[in-house]
Amino acid sequence: MPSRRPRILLLNASLAGDSGNTAVLIARARRLLARRATLATLTLSTPDSPAFAGLRPHLEKADAFLIGTGTHWDSWSSVLQKFLEDATPAEGTALWLGKPAACVVTEHSVGGKGVLSRLQGVLVTLGCTLPPMSGLVLSRAAVLAAQHAPKAADDFWCADDLRIVCHNLAEAASGTRRWKTWPVDRDDFAGRWLDPK
Ligand SMILES: Cc1cc2nc3c(=O)[nH]c(=O)nc-3n(C[C@H](O)[C@H](O)[C@H](O)COP(=O)(O)O)c2cc1C
Repeated sequence: MPSRRPRILLLNASLAGDSGNTAVLIARARRLLARRATLATLTLSTPDSPAFAGLRPHLEKADAFLIGTGTHWDSWSSVLQKFLEDATPAEGTALWLGKPAACVVTEHSVGGKGVLSRLQGVLVTLGCTLPPMSGLVLSRAAVLAAQHAPKAADDFWCADDLRIVCHNLAEAASGTRRWKTWPVDRDDFAGRWLDPK
């Protein structure tokens, strides 16, 4: 682990680039991480985004990653798929090995958790480590539910959980282990929520 201030690379792999929903989360993550790490951001879908060879020095320099994508037909973005394919020759090399990775996924309503779990699996296979509670899926459905039925939406992932993702990523990147957790429903998680009528 670096004895200096860690360098974290935020990789925006959204199809909509800097104007998408994922970019909003990445901008928030930047603000949350700025105090604890030296940050760089790369957006894959911009017209001037370099090929993998051009991205490689930025990835090598980073001590940790935060990767963001939307959900597209139950999968991650095509730009992220291309990035992962191009990154394959670097599998198991120092570019990835042991570096903590956090993931943020946006979606309308469904499919994002599958995207998150599979992306985390790929990142571990490439060589990354996963800090605890470092993956977040933010759905439009959960944001609407929080606006209209805040109590019922208590147990849904919300934008504020990004604080925990960023905190735990910074802890892992710094080599400290003062983990935090987002609120967990321990009372009502098995309750019936479907009206039988
Ligand atoms: C082509 C396309 C496919 C999508 N497929 C899904 C989907 O399967 N599930 C879902 O919940 N949302 C889906 N969405 C909604 C996006 O995941 C959501 O708007 C997300 O925030 C997009 O991220 P971005 O704005 O960073 O590009 C889809 C959007 C597009 C444009």
